Amino acid sequence: MLEIRQGDITRLNVDAIVNAANNSLLGGGGVDGAIHRAAGPQLLAACRPLGGCNTGDAKITPGFSLPARWVIHTVGPIWRGGKQGEAQLLENCYRNSLQLALRHDVKSIAFPAISTGVYGYPKSEAASIALKIMMEYESQFDTIIACCHSDDDLAVYNHARRLASAAEK
Ligand code: AR6
Repeated sequence: MLEIRQGDITRLNVDAIVNAANNSLLGGGGVDGAIHRAAGPQLLAACRPLGGCNTGDAKITPGFSLPARWVIHTVGPIWRGGKQGEAQLLENCYRNSLQLALRHDVKSIAFPAISTGVYGYPKSEAASIALKIMMEYESQFDTIIACCHSDDDLAVYNHARRLASAAEK
């Protein structure tokens, strides 16, 4: 099942939540900061030995004090106008996170809107990519949640989903 919902990803009771991290994996602002605060200092200690992460790749740690058992850290592309391979890199984030989740027997997973905050990716384009890859993997999970932080993001995702379903018909 693919579910679009509004809320704080750190509160979700799922097997894994995805973090929109940076190449250092050593924390930051936005959803990354919220996840590190909610997971506690052990999360940073677990990230340190991972040696960072390339854009589009994903790495996994425990969730520590989070309700989620795992955190999958992925690094979205910084938006540079759209001709620098951003779309492919964003697809890679979703695909690599979902593949890594499958290897850890994750059945329920939640994603934030990767790259659409500080990294400046246009929201509706990012939502279509996110939903396209989630739909590809939907049957392999019990639940995939697109967790929208704001009302606006929720509307953007719902609209992108209607477009995607119309295109399928
Ligand atoms: N739950 C769900 N979504 C959230 C939450 C939350 N608690 N908090 C923010 N968002 P951003 P990026 C949404 O900027 O663009 C960090 O400093 C937010 O509204 O967190 O990939 C990293 O360390 C937006 O829709 O991530 C990197 O340096 C989405 O999460 C850089 O920011 C992503 O916004 C990554 O930038």
